[in-house]
Amino acid sequence: MNPRVPPLQPWPLDRLLARVAQEWAGDKSVFSLAGRRFWKAEPGVDLSCDVGGRRVATPVGPAAGPHTQMAQNLALGWLAGARTFELKTVQILDQLDIPRPCIDMEHEGYNVEWSQELTLEQSLDEYVKGWLLLAVLRAWEPLRASVGEPGDHAFELSVGYDLAGIRSDRMAMLIDGLRQAGPRLDAMRALISGPFAHLRDVAADPVIVSTATLSTFHGCPPDEIEAIVEHLMTRHGLDVTVKLNPTLLGQETVAAILHDRLGYGQVPLDAAAFAGDLQWDRALAMIDRLESFARREGREFGLKLTNTLVVENHRGVMPGDKAYLSGPPLHVLAVTLLDRLNAALPGRLRLGEATKGIPVAFSAGIDKDNLASTVGLGLLPVTVCSDLLRPGGYGRLAQGLRSLSRQMKKSRAADLAAWRAQAARAARADGHDDAVAHQAALLATAGGFARYTAEAVREPLREVDHDLEMFDCLACGNCVTVCPNNAFLAVPTGVRPPLKSRSQYLVLAELCNECGNCVTFCPERGAPYLVKPRLYTDAAAWEARGREGMLITDPGVTTAGADEAASLVDALTRQPGWLRDDTGR
Ligand SMILES: Cc1cc2nc3c(=O)[nH]c(=O)nc-3n(C[C@H](O)[C@H](O)[C@H](O)COP(=O)(O)O)c2cc1C
Repeated sequence: MNPRVPPLQPWPLDRLLARVAQEWAGDKSVFSLAGRRFWKAEPGVDLSCDVGGRRVATPVGPAAGPHTQMAQNLALGWLAGARTFELKTVQILDQLDIPRPCIDMEHEGYNVEWSQELTLEQSLDEYVKGWLLLAVLRAWEPLRASVGEPGDHAFELSVGYDLAGIRSDRMAMLIDGLRQAGPRLDAMRALISGPFAHLRDVAADPVIVSTATLSTFHGCPPDEIEAIVEHLMTRHGLDVTVKLNPTLLGQETVAAILHDRLGYGQVPLDAAAFAGDLQWDRALAMIDRLESFARREGREFGLKLTNTLVVENHRGVMPGDKAYLSGPPLHVLAVTLLDRLNAALPGRLRLGEATKGIPVAFSAGIDKDNLASTVGLGLLPVTVCSDLLRPGGYGRLAQGLRSLSRQMKKSRAADLAAWRAQAARAARADGHDDAVAHQAALLATAGGFARYTAEAVREPLREVDHDLEMFDCLACGNCVTVCPNNAFLAVPTGVRPPLKSRSQYLVLAELCNECGNCVTFCPERGAPYLVKPRLYTDAAAWEARGREGMLITDPGVTTAGADEAASLVDALTRQPGWLRDDTGR
């Protein structure tokens, strides 16, 4: 491991729940997301749909990535209206050294992440913990007024990247553990305590996943895709989705869209990625065979468009030669690919008004403004990653859902079937066969693609000429909302000289993986995750990291030496709050 990057140390369920209770009692927020930003269904608009054999309450959720790795991330997505979760990809190589920073969301998105940063055993624990945490939050009466009747949700496993790894005993342990999670869930129930104690026996389905998405990224050999899908279906009884890469469009088409149409001329494509990935003819033949195989096995085979696009790392923000492009430009690429696949497989994809055929999930540049039209194409689920890494964070998902509900209400579409039918009618009225062709054609017109161009996306971020300090800053709150791990805490300062700004920001060091996203969005100069006070809640973790930062305990704040900052943090964390709760934490 890179010695500079400490491993993530997920919090146990009781500590997460103590935080929920204290924050809710303090300022009606949960994991720093204000209750008024939670998603609550609009009366008269039914967003429920079937995803992987489960009826879920909304068609959206976070895509595999930093928002689906730890239990508190899953809870934040749920509070914002996510009802399907593509869990962070798991793979056999679970001790990878991920370079840092690994996320660069200044304009269009880039990252250099791989799969989960936790071990497979920790990932299993996190996914079970997240499942139980959602069951508790769903049943917890104080949240009811803010979340309404939340309805059901589903977790989807994401696996990579080769047959040997996916067939290994340790991967089987993880998948079996999620398929028969009863004993693990029961063992965790003892941690449901305090104001949640009456929910210790809350209902939680022991089958946490019934679908898996295969990420064909990171060198997944094209000739192993079929065998992996077959293995997941037969050995594990899973429905399987294959997540395709935008390279399937071919380098020429990608260059024409990315460089010529959208103006990202300086983004160098990676010829090797196009050559090494699944090719068009082979993909169509594979889809044929896997559809038949799934039918014989009584399972469902689906497609997901798309993963990120491998490009040369040209920005110099993150280390390494390659980077993975996401966000607005990927949206145009993925809709174009969807249209081509739909044309090549007429009537075979479950799109538009179709209720049968190969289901297609989507993740590519979804934001609050295009969520509604994308849902109208019949894609299920529609998932988001890059947009949630921008200021507002998880709350942006709820904004998208509100916009979808508003538009449906305005056009009197009571449910998603009616919404899709409207999109299909509008497509036909405009001379297109279906809504996908309509959307792809729109994105080829100057008016349709304008908002996805480099020019539109590369608005400068706010910057102030000031070095970030440990206490006091502009107090914009960006570090809190852009952190997918919820590793920042804002503490209202109150009248506490010598502190001046209205909030102080503390880093929950055990949850920070130094992805760098807070650095991008902090208007001041400096790295918030390093400059702001770094707090530990677990003595062993603090010791293991050489006693850096501060250990928060009930009697007080401990630092390696006597320190004025520690006494300020001590005062700040003595305000009512979860850091000093009744359980002595
Ligand atoms: C930081 C980051 C990490 C990601 N990690 C994964 C992953 O582990 N597995 C995966 O299949 N996709 C991963 N993705 C890809 C996303 O799931 C998604 O398919 C892609 O980013 C396109 O959606 P977006 O434009 O909304 O970001 C990651 C994307 C980002 C930005």
